[in-house]
Amino acid sequence: MELWGGMLWALLSGPGRRGGTRGRAFSSWRPHRPQAGLSATELVSQWTAVFEKRGIPEARESSEYIVAHVLGAQTFQSLRPGLRSKPLTPWQLQCVQELSSRRLQRMPVQYILGEWDFCGLNLKMAPPVFIPRPETEELVEWVLEEVAQKSRAVGAQGGPLILEVGCGSGAISLSLLSQLPQSRVIAVDKAGAAISLARENAQRLQLQDRIRIAPLDVTLEGNWAHLLPWGPMDLLVSNPPYVFHQDMEQLAPEIRSYEDPAALDGGEKGMDVIVHLLALAPRLLKDSGSLFLEVDPRHPELVSSWLQSRPGLSLELVAVRKDFCGRPRFLHIQRSGPHGGCPVDTWPAPQPAGVPG
Ligand SMILES: C[S@@+](CC[C@H](N)C(=O)[O-])C[C@H]1O[C@@H](n2cnc3c(N)ncnc32)[C@H](O)[C@@H]1O
Repeated sequence: MELWGGMLWALLSGPGRRGGTRGRAFSSWRPHRPQAGLSATELVSQWTAVFEKRGIPEARESSEYIVAHVLGAQTFQSLRPGLRSKPLTPWQLQCVQELSSRRLQRMPVQYILGEWDFCGLNLKMAPPVFIPRPETEELVEWVLEEVAQKSRAVGAQGGPLILEVGCGSGAISLSLLSQLPQSRVIAVDKAGAAISLARENAQRLQLQDRIRIAPLDVTLEGNWAHLLPWGPMDLLVSNPPYVFHQDMEQLAPEIRSYEDPAALDGGEKGMDVIVHLLALAPRLLKDSGSLFLEVDPRHPELVSSWLQSRPGLSLELVAVRKDFCGRPRFLHIQRSGPHGGCPVDTWPAPQPAGVPG
């Protein structure tokens, strides 16, 4: 699997997809070379060759997803053999042409299809909202393991109250809700496009009754106070923007041209939002509540020393987990002391006013 721009984010390595979607209408038609009589298999080969020639990553997977989507399936492998060898209609050929031309412009397949699977949930995708990556499923699994372990250990009543900061499309929050039927989630994001998409996905999955999705920028001073009325949280989860600013230019064109840079750019050391989450955690978490973070492999050490120099926060880095590539990418941080609020001088420097989105 190719690693775009040196990141771990192999955008096409999503989980096995379930169910089926129908082909959809496409707004703009473009004249194209006649391809009448071509079967799905032939079309995949033809577009794979075009993509390869033009240096498009994951050429075969891209063409398979596009052709399958136009034929109303989620994967090419799930198409009946009869459908694979049947000639496409002129309308279907036109749709494949239209979608493939977007791929030639390096649009990620997830945006082209307008949907993607995460933890077995089918989510609507729309630029520039961040596309959930496969490794984030490992973060969700870890959180689920911890919830199960805790409820066994202390016999917790009811489900956990969870706060997700930077919910994007809603991937993490909605996966947790779907696996924890008694849980409730507060999901915030500073981007208006993310809030709208997360709300749409919550409705689409019929999970809207147990989630509140609100616009909020956690780096703005005092904004955390808006979260207090929801009550102390059992869990805080986040896949924040954590890319080191100087690495942003090395990201693949798919990422740089289509995804919101504010979803990725974590500032000089990738810690700009992370430090706000660390300062927020003691104020919002219950006693021995947990913060789970997805980070860059350089962050476990940076976060550990940041916390050690701020003992007043009463936060302890209790575990670090590796992703499927063996790189340390997930942090479990626990509130270790009594609830005393966060000393004022541990709050990071205020950001410019105004809540984007
Ligand atoms: C890496 S994306 C993660 C999205 C989603 N949780 C996922 O894993 O697919 C980070 C998200 O954090 C949001 N974000 C960035 N800065 C933020 C801030 N200061 N306050 C709240 N949300 C922020 C971005 O808009 C983006 O949706």
